[in-house]
Amino acid sequence: GGLAGHQAAHAEGSPARPASSGATGATGTGTSATADATTGPGALGRARRPFYGTHQGGVFDRPQAHGVWLGLDLVEEADASTLRRLFTIWTDDAAALMSGRGPLADTEPEMAAVTAGLTITFGVGPGVFDLTGITADRPGWLRPLPAFPSIDQLEERWRGTDLVVQICADSPLTVAHAQWVLLKDARSLARIVWCQKGFREAVGTEVPGRSMRNLFGQVDGTVNPAAGQDDPVVWMCASAPDWLRGGTSMVLRRIAMNLSTWEQADSVSRELALGRTQATGAPLTGQVEHDVPDLQATDAIGLPVIDTFSHVRRSMPHEHGGVDRFLRRPYTYDEGPSAHALSDAGLLFVAFQADLERQFLPVQRRLAEADRLNAWTTPVGSAVYAIPRGVREGEVLAEGLWR
Ligand code: HEM
Repeated sequence: GGLAGHQAAHAEGSPARPASSGATGATGTGTSATADATTGPGALGRARRPFYGTHQGGVFDRPQAHGVWLGLDLVEEADASTLRRLFTIWTDDAAALMSGRGPLADTEPEMAAVTAGLTITFGVGPGVFDLTGITADRPGWLRPLPAFPSIDQLEERWRGTDLVVQICADSPLTVAHAQWVLLKDARSLARIVWCQKGFREAVGTEVPGRSMRNLFGQVDGTVNPAAGQDDPVVWMCASAPDWLRGGTSMVLRRIAMNLSTWEQADSVSRELALGRTQATGAPLTGQVEHDVPDLQATDAIGLPVIDTFSHVRRSMPHEHGGVDRFLRRPYTYDEGPSAHALSDAGLLFVAFQADLERQFLPVQRRLAEADRLNAWTTPVGSAVYAIPRGVREGEVLAEGLWR
């Protein structure tokens, strides 16, 4: 009816651009996002991404400026019907919030009008498969990543949980409102374990076409699969069970970045460690960000220009037709200074891939083994989730898990 037409008129369009898009993001509003009291939110504020579809949002679409990850455990006495009740409520909530309507129990529905490209993405952890009444098999890969003792200093407080909710939007207020609604509606069914907040560049602020910078000042996000072109890298297909067909796997690693020791590193060591320039993100063998690195190039004394132990060389798909590509959709976190340290900052490293064991793990192993960047970075949190496929109207997210 009228509402559907209205929604379509404001739909932001999906799939959007690859993660590397900056100011030229899907809304393309630039500075013209002026609000008008008679017509509602500005263009950036009323941007909508579809809730219903083959895939959940918040994966292959342009990363919004703000994100929060909520880790929850189901209540002690939970069984499959608890999970079903929770996802029934959350499906309704997410459908309403993403289309600019306050859900049933929203006491501040006015806030829902600013969708700002909101996506809400739900995932389940391994624990869910131990519940009485769950009929789906736990996918073999759905378990904590193996330990990487050479780099890991994992803290229990960032452990894997039964559930994850990822909320992203271009307005922090939209994220906060959605978070409040989803958490209060879940309060008798699940308990919060952690909340991890991140941000990227504000829309329209980065050099057009350039990837975001992380807090080391590096251009981050250059080499990434593109929606439409590289779909099988991310989305599970025919061989997956129905609830995952069109879904994916999520790795969430909280990686601390030591700004104090990075400050000590000169630009030669920084660029050697990464294999790309700090200024533009171009490979050390190229001129501009998206130039293809020349791995054969050597310097005056015969050493590879892109060092064997540089981050990009270690992380790129293996030279022998490697399948180890995946989608990175990271956010910066910055918890601010304290009496003990000038900064508590890093990356919420979020990776999506169809096959965690064949695509993600080989890369993570190579990096743990030898990556110059490890001198300044420390994984402190790690979690793995299954991201169920998207739903059609009338369906409940993750409904293939129970009968
Ligand atoms: C590339 C930074 C952790 C996988 C890059 C680039 C930067 C970067 C600046 C180059 C530009 C680009 O292509 O995006 C960081 C920082 C990290 C981190 C600061 C930790 C705080 C990781 C981890 C993984 C990873 C944990 C995977 C397990 C990759 C991959 C590429 C890449 C696959 C692209 C390689 C290519 O094909 O050229 N990273 N990264 N990174 N990183 Fe990381």
